[in-house]
Amino acid sequence: MERVESGIPGLDKMIQGGFPFPSIALVGGEPGTGKTTLALQSLFYGAEKGEQGLYITAVSEPTWVIQKFLGEFGFYSQKIVETEKIIFVDVDGAVSEDPEKIMDILKKNVEKYEPKRVVIDPITAIKDALGDVITYRKFLHDLMIYMKTQGCVTLLTTEYGYSNVPRSVDAYMVDALVILSYLEIENARKKYLEVLKMRGTKHLTGRRSLVISDEGLRVQPELR
Ligand SMILES: Nc1ncnc2c1ncn2[C@@H]1O[C@H](COP(=O)(O)OP(=O)(O)OP(=O)(O)O)[C@@H](O)[C@H]1O
Ligand SMILES: [Mg+2]
Repeated sequence: MERVESGIPGLDKMIQGGFPFPSIALVGGEPGTGKTTLALQSLFYGAEKGEQGLYITAVSEPTWVIQKFLGEFGFYSQKIVETEKIIFVDVDGAVSEDPEKIMDILKKNVEKYEPKRVVIDPITAIKDALGDVITYRKFLHDLMIYMKTQGCVTLLTTEYGYSNVPRSVDAYMVDALVILSYLEIENARKKYLEVLKMRGTKHLTGRRSLVISDEGLRVQPELR
């Protein structure tokens, strides 16, 4: 099976070299667990290797704000942004005004830029805008088929922790599910990454230590 390296140090050796290609992965976690950083770090990794990336944000943060906060990280490259090897698209307007347009905007950008890696951050905003679970399920079904046909690895971030997994339709539908979390240990917050599922992949199980630093995310698969 063809793999696309996540580019997150430590993660690829947990998952036989990378995400299956093509596939759709859900990256879940509570606030500040590192979802956005993971997704963008992966896009920059791909872009450094010459891949086209597409980052779709569905929160009302202008893309320059995201880029400003990203600039703090070692993996950030102004040149990649300027040369549009990663395209930043804001769908916040459609999310609040006409959620049915979201798929059109998405398709238009995928057709125009032909990205290999796509991030939607967070999918939760689109899910809420679509309203009911049947509409969301259909949206996700169409999205998955479309993205795979286009030949993309797609990362969707989602605002939830472990307790949401068993009753979330998206967790069942996607090919891969990664949960970021933090636990309080001796008055300190430790961060973790766990691969809960990855179709067609023999992967390490259990929570593994996650470190976030100026360099971005790094998993320590040998530490729990
Ligand atoms: N330079 C750094 N060194 C260490 N930790 C950092 C650094 N920069 C950010 N962090 C940590 O990473 C977290 C930010 O991660 P990120 O914004 O990717 O989380 P998120 O899961 O997307 O959050 P949200 O759900 O709010 O969107 C911060 O809350 C902080 O704990
Ligand atoms: Mg985020």
